Amino acid sequence: MSAVLLAAAPPSRAPDGSRLPDRGPRLLAGPDPDGEAETLKQHGARLGRRPRGGPWLIDVIESSGLRGRGGAWFPTGRKWRGVARAAQRKAAVVVVNASEGEPLSAKDRLLVTHRPHLVIDGALLAAESVGATEVLIYLSRPSRPATRALRNALGERRRAGQRDLPVHLVHTAHRYVSGESSAVVRRVSGGLAKPTFTPPHPSDSGVDGRPTLVQNVETIAHLALIARSGEDWFRERGTREAPGTMLVTLSGSVRFPGVYEVDVGTPLPDAIGHAGGVLEPPRGVLIGGYFGTWLNGASLAEVRLDPAEVSLGCGIVGVLAAAACPFREAASIVTYLAAESAGQCGVCVFGLRAIAETMTRVAAGDADRGDLARLGRWTTMVRGRGGCRHPDGAVNNVVTAVDAFGDDLALHLDGKPCADSGRPSLPPPARHRGWR
Ligand SMILES: Cc1cc2nc3c(=O)[nH]c(=O)nc-3n(C[C@H](O)[C@H](O)[C@H](O)COP(=O)(O)O)c2cc1C
Ligand code: SF4
Repeated sequence: MSAVLLAAAPPSRAPDGSRLPDRGPRLLAGPDPDGEAETLKQHGARLGRRPRGGPWLIDVIESSGLRGRGGAWFPTGRKWRGVARAAQRKAAVVVVNASEGEPLSAKDRLLVTHRPHLVIDGALLAAESVGATEVLIYLSRPSRPATRALRNALGERRRAGQRDLPVHLVHTAHRYVSGESSAVVRRVSGGLAKPTFTPPHPSDSGVDGRPTLVQNVETIAHLALIARSGEDWFRERGTREAPGTMLVTLSGSVRFPGVYEVDVGTPLPDAIGHAGGVLEPPRGVLIGGYFGTWLNGASLAEVRLDPAEVSLGCGIVGVLAAAACPFREAASIVTYLAAESAGQCGVCVFGLRAIAETMTRVAAGDADRGDLARLGRWTTMVRGRGGCRHPDGAVNNVVTAVDAFGDDLALHLDGKPCADSGRPSLPPPARHRGWR
């Protein structure tokens, strides 16, 4: 897995006089993101000193239109206002969510490992702005390079005499649901990384009952740049409703799988072009990750990476090989997600298991139209009934596979499944885990 930059464009000057790329990469600008972590010296030379956060930055983040990159694309400024309001009662906590449970995603670990100072800057700016007294960076336990990079970066800052709010690392087991915000709060408060039932929302009462801002790593990195360069600079890229650039993890049947930085709203074929293009005309594409949406290969040309058009999740594009079976992929994903349930809600435990078993039969050509009708009923029943969005995400994957590949589905239901290799074409979870 590699990180590849967009072609660099002539740099422009930011309001503080520092040089910043204009049309080129933003988050991935600087030293080779496949190389060593950016040092404090390199970071300072490239971006200058960070300003101090405060209420002014809440205004800037709100007008920048920044939306969270952890999956839901929620407006960051609105979340900050809520936490800042609650922090008038009790000091808040900022948690940087670097757990990256999505098996097809590699962007957060890339940022933490190779741009640790950008992430720490953003976390401190957020904390100073919302009235937090502490920053916690929440990492998945197997991510040793990320932990090492952060420890080194914090050591560099200490040795340089920087006196900032305390930053601590908290580790969690690598499970799909560990990164859900209430699970994050529960784990950081000393419990298991399983979602709790909301309300209260973490922004009101989170870690140890304190107002808690849970923010994805990429969101945090964007705001470290916005604080230096301003909202107008941020809005030069992306769409009106979702400005800025985004990191996309491209995998599957593409020439160079990896993490790429593109403008929000980039046409899908252009985004795939950054990964050297497809290896062959694809059967389909999974956008947004395991909770995401399947698109038929025939409809890809019209799609843009815009959250107003398709749910982008944490920026995943998985390209399905021409010979791969979309139902085998969807069945393998929903089986994994059923096993990753936190085991607290009936619909999640029993509903996902039943859906996974039926989908596996569909993939094998062993299901009939009665099974399909049951699948339709169960996916409707499950939606919105779990303690968190885990079951909704899982059924979204199944329902969009059924919708996007209707002709293939008819063949499967007639007992004629795809003659594929039998192996899923997108990288399976185990392989991604090994990469950490
Ligand atoms: C089952 C589940 C798993 C999630 N996993 C992650 C994750 O690994 N990393 C992440 O940043 N957000 C994850 N989220 C989203 C978080 O709940 C939360 O919305 C996000 O961290 C907020 O950050 P943002 O506003 O910067 O996107 C997950 C959500 C759900 C429902
Ligand atoms: S829906 Fe599933 S993952 Fe979410 S809280 Fe309930 S059991 Fe846990």
